[in-house]
Amino acid sequence: MALRQILTDEEPALHKKCRVVTEVNDRIRTLIDDMTETMYHSNGVGLAAPQVGVLRRIAVVDAGTGLYQLVNPIILEQTGSACGMEACLSVPEKQGYVLRPENIVVEALNRNGEKIRIEADGYLAVALCHEIDHLDGIVFTDRTIDPTEEQIAEAERRAQEATEQLGLNEEEPDEPMPQVDVSTLRGKRRIRLVKPTIGG
Ligand code: NI
Repeated sequence: MALRQILTDEEPALHKKCRVVTEVNDRIRTLIDDMTETMYHSNGVGLAAPQVGVLRRIAVVDAGTGLYQLVNPIILEQTGSACGMEACLSVPEKQGYVLRPENIVVEALNRNGEKIRIEADGYLAVALCHEIDHLDGIVFTDRTIDPTEEQIAEAERRAQEATEQLGLNEEEPDEPMPQVDVSTLRGKRRIRLVKPTIGG
């Protein structure tokens, strides 16, 4: 396994639609292993192939409930909507409020090319949506909203849940990360981010 360099969102690769993987072979498995090592090394909860410069539909996620290595993931079903705070390894030192479905069903191939199905809610659902977005060239900053007070409260509650799910301590980082610039952002409050690189 090897660490790969994580591209930042100035790179065109972060804004392109990725191609479907037609065969899950050893080359793909090596990429998956490298991505997994890079994700853990960077303290991320997910990583998508375009973030390491490979325009293929591959993502790895570990939101505290186990590792998922996904090839050609698609969201089959989604219900509900909830506001949460997100960050991204490709957008260093930024965080922002994003609306995501509360419950999703994802279908993908695993590292052996077998079809798997994941029913996810909470932080796992957020992480899966965030990574699948990357495969379509969408970065969370494309979805950042100007939250209402209710949405801010909801995001704080979910951040707390994520903290517990990830088994992180609750110490506040020295400096909260600056928010993505939303020109009309009314909230001056900042969520105590559970970890500077909680994004993927
Ligand atoms: Ni990301």
